[in-house]
Amino acid sequence: MSKILITGAAGLLGSHFSEYLLNKDREVIGVDNLSGGYIEHVDKRLIKKKRFYKVDLLNASALEKIFKKHKPDFVYHFAAYAAEGLSPFIRNYNYNNNVISSINVINNCLNYGAKKLIFTSSMAVYGIGNPPFTEDQLPNPVDPYGIAKYAVEMDMKQACDQFGLNYNIIRPHNVIGIKQNIWDQYRNVIGIWIRKTLSGEPISIFGDGLQKRAFSDISFYMAPFEKFMTGHDRETFNIGADKEFEILEIARLVQKIAGKFGYSPEIKHFEPRHEVKVAYCNHEKAKFHLGFEDNTDIESTIREMFEWALKQPKRRIKKMKYEVEKNIYSFWK
Ligand SMILES: NC(=O)c1ccc[n+]([C@@H]2O[C@H](COP(=O)([O-])OP(=O)(O)OC[C@H]3O[C@@H](n4cnc5c(N)ncnc54)[C@H](O)[C@@H]3O)[C@@H](O)[C@H]2O)c1
Repeated sequence: MSKILITGAAGLLGSHFSEYLLNKDREVIGVDNLSGGYIEHVDKRLIKKKRFYKVDLLNASALEKIFKKHKPDFVYHFAAYAAEGLSPFIRNYNYNNNVISSINVINNCLNYGAKKLIFTSSMAVYGIGNPPFTEDQLPNPVDPYGIAKYAVEMDMKQACDQFGLNYNIIRPHNVIGIKQNIWDQYRNVIGIWIRKTLSGEPISIFGDGLQKRAFSDISFYMAPFEKFMTGHDRETFNIGADKEFEILEIARLVQKIAGKFGYSPEIKHFEPRHEVKVAYCNHEKAKFHLGFEDNTDIESTIREMFEWALKQPKRRIKKMKYEVEKNIYSFWK
């Protein structure tokens, strides 16, 4: 049976995909340093079988031991710190955590003969670009997070050319669902709003709220992700929802759902962030080749997240040490 190693197994994508594969009796090994995910979100079966490793991917020797022991056939590399708006202020952390750690994964895939490395890049590689972004457009990232993702994509292609590394690149955007980190003030906008609502704070919007994003429920990603183990070698896929919403519209929806649970948060506008206003992808390739179908019902997904959030313990809110303080936004000071 193929062995499947998942990095970021405590995070949104990693925890859901581990559960999906374990439900099919697949052999899974999980790695996560719990910097952005929680041990409670790691599938219990991984812990019970001692197949979960609390290891930082920057720790090259610890990572190598895992590869040496398990010799995974497929490696799904989900681990990263995905705080795009914050990335210009934590450049060193961003490049170490998102590039160098990925290089450690690539080295081990090469040295221990992985059949394929599947990497979650991001829509951020397209930057301002020319939406709807198609996979053949030349990336032009406009922030360190997007630059880091594109650097890893390029390194994987180099490792393919010179050493035959087999790979897939996935470029998702705005995936939501339970087990998403809602205690990080820098990322996961819907999660932040739910957490703020529960603690009696207003829903925060950067700028006018007319920026558009398309959110999709994590559940629609599982079967397409699995398909990478049976083909589509060396291909890149955009994946995500087609239906866009203005951020303000989503904020009002969170307000409405909150009302059903007895909460009445206000909406508060803050200064705009340096961010791409209109960014959306074309997903025809994933639909055609991976059978990807996004049937997200945004209202019911947010309601499910809300119900889940109500049952969560009180956690510390993540605060990062800024490397650059220049032009830092008032809401992050
Ligand atoms: N969720 C989205 O909407 C989205 C969109 C585009 C791209 N992505 C990419 O998909 C991947 C998964 O995203 P997610 O939403 O599940 O994020 P997440 O933060 O929920 O999960 C990432 C996990 O990686 C772990 N991690 C981070 N750095 C690590 C390190 N150095 N060593 C070991 N573990 C480490 C964290 O603890 C966390 O549990 C990321 O690479 C992200 O950039 C996600």
